[in-house]
Amino acid sequence: MATLRIAADADAVAEAAADRVAALVRATPAAVLGLPTGDTPLGLYRRLCARHAAGTIDLSRVRCFNLDEYHPIAADDPQSYHAYMRRELFDHVTVAAWRLPDGVAPLAQVDAACSAYEDAIAAAGGIDLQILGIGRTGHLGFNEPGASADSRTHRVELHTMTRSDAALRFGGLAAVPTHALTMGMGTILAARRILVLVTGAAKAGIVARALRGAIDPAVPASLLQTHPAVELLLDPAAAAALS
Ligand code: GLP
Repeated sequence: MATLRIAADADAVAEAAADRVAALVRATPAAVLGLPTGDTPLGLYRRLCARHAAGTIDLSRVRCFNLDEYHPIAADDPQSYHAYMRRELFDHVTVAAWRLPDGVAPLAQVDAACSAYEDAIAAAGGIDLQILGIGRTGHLGFNEPGASADSRTHRVELHTMTRSDAALRFGGLAAVPTHALTMGMGTILAARRILVLVTGAAKAGIVARALRGAIDPAVPASLLQTHPAVELLLDPAAAAALS
């Protein structure tokens, strides 16, 4: 059963998430973090940068693996998750290592690139804390409805709703990549602990389906119910449909 915490607002969600990361790295300085992108974790990243600048958190031994990346997309494309992570976090804090799935792997080498990503996570000792957002389709990373529970890092076709949610940032739907590389559900569920951040009324319905509905690959986030150490941090708007 997941632990559910409803914070006062989105800022309090971000603050609590930063506290979780701080507590982890105090206990395990060389922790392995799994990191998300999107709008939801921006407040967390802003706080990690501020705490780093203030000298109240030491991330210098932490290793980071991101959940996903569009494919194909150049690392220096401002819409790539690589560029996002630089902008929001890694240009401002020092970590021991950070990596995303290889957005420029040639198609013929995608499987090898995905296996190499899995190997790197295993070589780091596995993920201590996987931080997640939830997409409106119920996706985790880019594991869209129908994703199998034991999948590992692989290439996926993006759901139309996921692409239209990204259209504004890309300056139109046509510019949004059709595919991405993502950690699989099996990769995510293998993390020792999972922290899910969800804010805003647009996510209320999917949060309720994920937490209170059946465990069903049609709602990938519902597979979180099978993990022994999940904490969800919600703002009141995202929690509104939970009775
Ligand atoms: C993207 C990412 C997901 C993220 C989701 C939600 O699709 N691939 O990892 O959780 O968006 O994003 P947001 O936080 O902007 O709602």
